[in-house]
Amino acid sequence: MNSTKQPFPIKLVRSQFPALNRVYKGKSVVYFDGPGGSQVVKSAMDAIFGYMAQGGANLHGSFPSSRETEAIISDSKLAVADLFGVKEQEVAFGANMTTLNFAISRAIGRFLKAGDEIVLSELDHRANVDPWLAMAVDRGVTVRWIPVNPQTLTLDLNDLDKIINSNTRLVAVGLASNAVGTINDVRYIASQAHKFNAIVAVDAVHAAPHFSINRDQLEADILLCSAYKFFGPHVGIAVIREELFEQLNTYKLAPAPKYIPDKLETGTQNHEGIAGIKPAIEFIASLGEGTTRKEKIESGFRNIEDYENVLAAKIRKALSEMKGITLYQADDQVPRTPTIAFRVEKFSPQEVCQIMSEEYGVFIADGDFYATTLADKLDINRTGGWVRAGLAPYNTEEEADIFIEGLRQLVNRR
Ligand SMILES: Cc1ncc(COP(=O)(O)O)c(C=O)c1O
Repeated sequence: MNSTKQPFPIKLVRSQFPALNRVYKGKSVVYFDGPGGSQVVKSAMDAIFGYMAQGGANLHGSFPSSRETEAIISDSKLAVADLFGVKEQEVAFGANMTTLNFAISRAIGRFLKAGDEIVLSELDHRANVDPWLAMAVDRGVTVRWIPVNPQTLTLDLNDLDKIINSNTRLVAVGLASNAVGTINDVRYIASQAHKFNAIVAVDAVHAAPHFSINRDQLEADILLCSAYKFFGPHVGIAVIREELFEQLNTYKLAPAPKYIPDKLETGTQNHEGIAGIKPAIEFIASLGEGTTRKEKIESGFRNIEDYENVLAAKIRKALSEMKGITLYQADDQVPRTPTIAFRVEKFSPQEVCQIMSEEYGVFIADGDFYATTLADKLDINRTGGWVRAGLAPYNTEEEADIFIEGLRQLVNRR
C-alpha cells in the first residue's frame, strides 16, 4: 500500500499550547528554551485543573475522590509504561529527576562496599553525576569516568573495556546531552556493563521529548526523565526494572508501602501534576498513527524528529555561515537532538540572551546547563558558558527565521 506522508500539523499543534499566544514588548514570543523545560499542552493543564476542581484526595481512602486519585495516578503510569515499553509497576513518580536519583543512588549504595566501582560520564548533566558521587563518598566506592572528547563533543569509548570491568557495579550515563545535543550510544555502553552484571542508569531527561525510547532496546535498568521537558507538568519519573526494584532497600517511612513502585514515592505525591502526565504523552501519540497508544507514540516521535531536524538543520547551517559565531556540536554523522549550543564573539552568552529576548522576543538560555565538566573542559565556564537554542514540535520555520535574522543583526553590531 502506498501511503504519502502527511505534512506535520503545525497549526493544530500550536493551537494546543496557550503559552504561544504570549506577546513580549510587542513581539510574539519565540520559545527556543525547550531543553530547560517545554511549554505545556492545554490538555495537561485541563487535567491538572480538573483534578483539583473535582475534589482532590489522598490515597487509600474508601471514598470516590480517593479512588479517583489512585485511578488517575495509575493511568499516568500506564501512559509512561507505553512511552518506554515498560510495566506500570516499574514506574515511580517524584519531585523531579534529581530528587529521584538521589533516592535511588542512596538505595543502590546500600548494596555496595569499598573496592566496588561505579562509572560516570563527563558529558552528563550533574543530576546523573552528583547523586552517584555522594553515594560513592558515603560507601567508599571508586569512581571511574567515561571521558568526553572536547573536540568531537562525543564520549570517548575507546577505553571502555578498561573503564568498565569486573569491579564495576553501576554505570550512569545520559542518553543525550542537554548542552550540546549529542546522543550517546547507550546501548553499546549498557551491553559492556551487563557483561559484568553492572546496573545501568540512564538519564533520558533531555532525550525524552525528541525521540522514541524503548527501555529494553537501550538495555537500561534505570531510566529517568521529567514530564516538564515533554509538554507536561513538573513531575520526575523513574523507571526501574522490576527485579532490581524489588531488591532495592529504599529509604522510606516505616508504615509506607514496602511494595514497588510505591516504596520509592516518599510522602504525598503531586497528584495534580501527575494528572497532567497522561495527556502530555497522549499529545505525542496524537501526532502518530497506529492501533495501540504505544505504536502511536513511536510514530508520533518519528514525525516530531523529522520536523524538528529540518528546523535544526536550517539553524545550524545559517549559524555556521555567520562570522563571529562558534557552534558547539558533534559532526553531522553523530545523532543529535535539535539543541544548538553556540557563542557569539564580543558578547557574553548572557548578553546574547538578553538582546534576543528584549529586541526579538526570542527566549533562549545561557550558562553551563549543569553540564559542568564539558563546559570546564572547553574552558568556557569562566566566560558564561554557552547560549543554547532548543527546538520543540511547536516551533516554526518563521520562528527559526526570526532567530537567525536577530543573530545576524547582532553579530554585525560590534
Ligand atoms: C539531561 C538532564 N538531566 C537531568 C536534569 C534534571 O532534571 P530535573 O530538573 O527533573 O531534576 C536535567 C534538567 O535540565 C537535564 O537536562
